[in-house]
This record gives sequence, C-alpha cells and structure tokens, in this order.
Amino acid sequence: MTYIITEPCIDTKDKSCVEVCPVDCIHEVDKMLVIDPEECIDCGACEPVCPVEAISEDRRVAEGEEDFADDNRAFFTEALEGRDGPIGAPGGAHLIGTIGVDTPLVVAHEGN
Ligand code: F3S
Ligand code: F3S
Repeated sequence: MTYIITEPCIDTKDKSCVEVCPVDCIHEVDKMLVIDPEECIDCGACEPVCPVEAISEDRRVAEGEEDFADDNRAFFTEALEGRDGPIGAPGGAHLIGTIGVDTPLVVAHEGN
C-alpha cells in the first residue's frame, strides 16, 4: 500500500504535503507532485493537509481517479519522455529537486 496524489493537485501544487512528510518521499514534477511508493511509509500525515483533497490511500482513491495510482507508480518504474531509463527510487525529494517531466496521464489531462 501507499498513498497517491490525484488530479486536483495538477497546477495547484500547494506543497503542504511536502512539509509534513517524515521521509521526504513526495517529489515535485512539472505540473503536480507524486509520491514514491517505495519510500512512503503510509503514515498518512499528508492526506489531511492538502487543501484540495488530492491525496488518499491507493485502495481508497476517489471514483474516476483510479488511473492516478498506476500513473504515480509508473512515474518511478518506467522511462519517461526524454529519459533513457526509469527514475527508480531516487531517495530524498529535497536532494533531487524538481523533476521537469510529467507522466503520460498528466500530459493527457492537460490536453483535454
Ligand atoms: Fe498537491 Fe495537495 Fe500536496 S495540492 S502539492 S497534493 S498539498
Ligand atoms: Fe509521506 Fe504521506 Fe507517505 S506523509 S510517508 S507520502 S503517507
């Protein structure tokens, strides 16, 4: 299990979640933030602080937002546009900084 971030975060990027995560596993990408499922310890601290209710457990994701669970995971396990390989488990989000590429689902959302 892990927590995931869904559509309301796109272009909102409030980042309150980043401030409360004890393991620094919430990464900023181009248009939203994503949680590294390998690093998340399921503490749930991020869920109540998001002002747009974009965060939930992957098994309790809101209706219509299910694709974000796979998309969140794929961000770390599949090679994204312009990259030779997957990002993998990059460790602390603050060390990595903003990752300037979005997942296909987020790109598709912007095209709608
Ligand atoms: Fe996004 Fe909410 Fe965090 S808008 S950056 S998931 S606090
Ligand atoms: Fe961090 Fe939220 Fe997981 S605070 S450890 S991303 S449940």
